[in-house]
Amino acid sequence: MTGTDRSIENLASEERVSVQTLAWSDEGLQLIDQRVLPQRFTTIRCDSAAAVAEAIRTMVVRGAPAIGCAAAFGIALEARRQRAQSPAAFLSALEAAFAVLAASRPTAVNLFWALERMREELARCNTLSTADTASRLAAEAVAIFESDISANKAIGRAGAALVHEGARIMTHCNAGALATAGHGTALGVVRSARDQGKSISVIANETRPFLQGARLTAWEMVQERIPVTLVTDNMAAHLMKTGQVDLVIVGADRIAANGDTANKIGTYGLAVLAAHHRLPFYVAAPLSTIDRGTPDGNGIPIEERHGDEVTGYGAMRWAPQGVATRNPAFDVTPAALVTALITEKGVLERPDSTGIRSLFKA
Ligand code: MRU
Repeated sequence: MTGTDRSIENLASEERVSVQTLAWSDEGLQLIDQRVLPQRFTTIRCDSAAAVAEAIRTMVVRGAPAIGCAAAFGIALEARRQRAQSPAAFLSALEAAFAVLAASRPTAVNLFWALERMREELARCNTLSTADTASRLAAEAVAIFESDISANKAIGRAGAALVHEGARIMTHCNAGALATAGHGTALGVVRSARDQGKSISVIANETRPFLQGARLTAWEMVQERIPVTLVTDNMAAHLMKTGQVDLVIVGADRIAANGDTANKIGTYGLAVLAAHHRLPFYVAAPLSTIDRGTPDGNGIPIEERHGDEVTGYGAMRWAPQGVATRNPAFDVTPAALVTALITEKGVLERPDSTGIRSLFKA
């Protein structure tokens, strides 16, 4: 991975509002380094599947749909890099690329969905030269990327109908343009509601321990001049109880066949709080986040990350040496707590197995 670095202040005003999380070109895959936002605007270039896998593992790129797009480009990059090899060497390098990307992070199903699409395209290329196969794989990765943007815009339009004038929307983690190919899922609904002329505001939970809310959601909203208030995660109950929240919208990393939803750690607690305070709790996600092969939330693998993220942040450490930690990165919200699932196919109220199945019918 190689990088370029610019301070936020030096960005042209146009760049400040167009978040290009992933950019594909002849030079490779360029990613915004999300580990250092908002202090620095740094982009990193990847030129192999292993480099993309490392970028996913280390959170340069994160958010379920963005991880899926990055993985697809990782396969395309590797195919381009290996296209002068013999067909056997080319295929064996691609097998290694699929394996390294699949091992990068376990929870977001978009990663495995995108790899499966790339594998199917590879199978369709079995009579083509390695160079033509590499071009076809690049085209497939671009198609995955473009369809994510269209899906998010459709999610935004469908979800905006649920957002009333003046709504104060609480969100958790970052389900915005940075977490997708563009526009965002939960923040896509916010953007679309704003684009419809609604005067809305966002309450961003900081999202311990990796601070995606404080660093990324707050940054995206400030860039777009959408009113945003940052709160720590433990303030949500108080704000709901005192009538300062109208609805909650979150994204998802994997939705089981019955609607149980894995998302950033802390989401389940918010759903319980929203139910207690009779507030709508919406999940916004594309169909690529639905894992029909996993019957319910118990089967969703939950990534456990390093304890260093809990004992401190970056170079700062606040917990004593020797303390034990836990760091599950996601939790599962039971479908019964989800008021509606917002997908590119529209709004599915009270999602369950039957409703989820219906989303996949033509
Ligand atoms: O660990 P992360 O930052 O990859 O977790 C991201 C989330 O939990 C998002 O809410 C989810 O991927 C939806 S992004 C549209």
